[in-house]
Amino acid sequence: MADEIVNVNEFQALARQALPKMYYDFYAGGAEDEHTLKKNVQEFQRIILLPRVLVDVSKIALSTNILGYTISAPIMIAPTSMHKLAHPEGELATARAAAACNTIMMLSFTASCSVEEVAASCDAVRFFQLYVCKRRDIAVNLVQRAEKSGYKAIVLTADRPRRGRKEADIKNKMILPQLKNLEGLMSIEVFSDKGSNIKPNANEIFDPSLCWRDIAWLKSITSLPILIKGILTREDAIKAMEVGAAGIIVSNHGARQLDYTPATISVLEEVVQAVGRRVPVLLDGGVRRGTDVFKALALGAQAVLVGRPVIYGLAAKGEAGVRKVMQMLKDELELTMALAGCPSVEDISRSHVRTDRDRLQ
Ligand code: FNR
Repeated sequence: MADEIVNVNEFQALARQALPKMYYDFYAGGAEDEHTLKKNVQEFQRIILLPRVLVDVSKIALSTNILGYTISAPIMIAPTSMHKLAHPEGELATARAAAACNTIMMLSFTASCSVEEVAASCDAVRFFQLYVCKRRDIAVNLVQRAEKSGYKAIVLTADRPRRGRKEADIKNKMILPQLKNLEGLMSIEVFSDKGSNIKPNANEIFDPSLCWRDIAWLKSITSLPILIKGILTREDAIKAMEVGAAGIIVSNHGARQLDYTPATISVLEEVVQAVGRRVPVLLDGGVRRGTDVFKALALGAQAVLVGRPVIYGLAAKGEAGVRKVMQMLKDELELTMALAGCPSVEDISRSHVRTDRDRLQ
């Protein structure tokens, strides 16, 4: 019998075995030197937990409210592209797992299943992640379709005016399949099959002129709340507040865009202070343990998003793998809360962690 999988990291090795090298590298890789990729994980490890003892932890309440939706734990599924390269059922399996875990799934613009297919496959609360194309009618089309299909929020990814440089994809001559959500909207000709087509594709399609004043336009085409994903500084958090974002996602795109950006956990507190509880602040990047979730909550995040571990679970074991990844993180968080003396997520406070900043003071 195969060894039991005891933590989320073990799914990565299983995914590596299950996938062709080109696809594994596509999912696992980061930009250029992959400095930020490593830092996203390592900076969590520098934070120390300060437990309280003799607290009644006979019951632990993990449930959390995000924009009015109650989820079973503060752990959600980040938008990641092309799940069918990981498993034939693609995002449909991921969405079913999200529903089974009672969490929120953010569906990627570059998903391999359409907005409608995913909506029909399960009743998980879904947010739709948007990239804005040069042809603005495409955003209008997709936002309207998402709204009609019952998605509850738009997640505008703001950190990708151009595609970051992932050298493994260049070496592997990675070819991206047609984007399912753009079928019938955009000519397939931009999807050349000569060498790695990722960079020309992305730079052809996405609009590098997108800027803060365009949020007003985005708000004019939807009544859904808009979260801005890809914030790493106090300045941008303030701008996001000024343009009326309903939430902020502290993210460096899983270290796939600009290398040498800070690890997300190291800038979370600065962003939280700038936002001052006006809207929820979420975080993704490097979350691999329940203790990581606890640390993010202690530093002010309302919830975290998980990217690669979900894909690894999907690649290894389909829907059951995604469920297991989410369940393991949730179980670890529950144990962490019990051992740290926090019966509910609201009890997790700044005084439960020590960061490098605290050591300097
Ligand atoms: C991503 N990410 C991403 N983000 C987004 O807004 N739209 C997208 O289509 C994608 N696609 C994508 C593909 C793959 C393979 C990865 C690994 C990531 C970024 C994602 O939403 C999230 O920010 C990171 O994945 C979080 O970091 P971890 O959990 O992967 O470390």
